[in-house]
Amino acid sequence: MQNFKIREMAHEDIDEILQIEELCYGAHHWSRESFQTELSNKISTYKCILDDKKCIGYMGIWKIMDEAHVTNLSIHPDYQNKKLAHRLLLSMIDECYKEKIKYITLEVRVSNERAIHLYEKFGFKSLGLRKKYYQDNNEDALIMWSENIFDKKYKDLYSELNKIVEQN
Ligand SMILES: CC(C)(COP(=O)(O)OP(=O)(O)OC[C@H]1O[C@@H](n2cnc3c(N)ncnc32)[C@H](O)[C@@H]1OP(=O)(O)O)[C@@H](O)C(=O)NCCC(=O)NCCS
Repeated sequence: MQNFKIREMAHEDIDEILQIEELCYGAHHWSRESFQTELSNKISTYKCILDDKKCIGYMGIWKIMDEAHVTNLSIHPDYQNKKLAHRLLLSMIDECYKEKIKYITLEVRVSNERAIHLYEKFGFKSLGLRKKYYQDNNEDALIMWSENIFDKKYKDLYSELNKIVEQN
């Protein structure tokens, strides 16, 4: 198993992150200022996954009461399909367990089959639609929610997903 390390995002990561943003989202990516603001936002947690010292993916959440709202999850195209998003999601779920956060929610483009597949694998269910949520092309967003992650059923899924990642 290749040893990809996960740690909290730092300001020094932003240059590498902006390159990944451009590769993943083209012209409609987050700005440097958005990441700088997020890093000093008290309700945010942002993590990077590293190949040696290089940031190759990242994920953020806002922690609001007993809910976590996923703000961003991106993996450098050269590193996709290696279960790195699995690893970031599992690491954020660990964080939620520590912070007693029960539910995780997110929005995803209705056309983003890969991300939807991933979130469904993590037990997220689509519970609604935000019409024309994405301003670049007026695309709708699926609103997805986890179950209560403290339920036994979810903890079993979490153990299974950890095993899958360990085998890769
Ligand atoms: C979505 C994204 C984060 C996934 O990252 P990743 O590290 O490649 O994901 P993983 O390797 O952990 O898992 C990918 C899963 O999607 C599956 N997949 C790959 N291409 C797919 C496709 N076209 N349709 C459906 N599923 C697909 C893989 O088989 C894998 O599932 P599996 O574990 O059941 O085999 C990454 O593709 C990305 O950064 N995309 C651009 C930004 C983005 O869309 N972010 C999500 C915003 S909500």
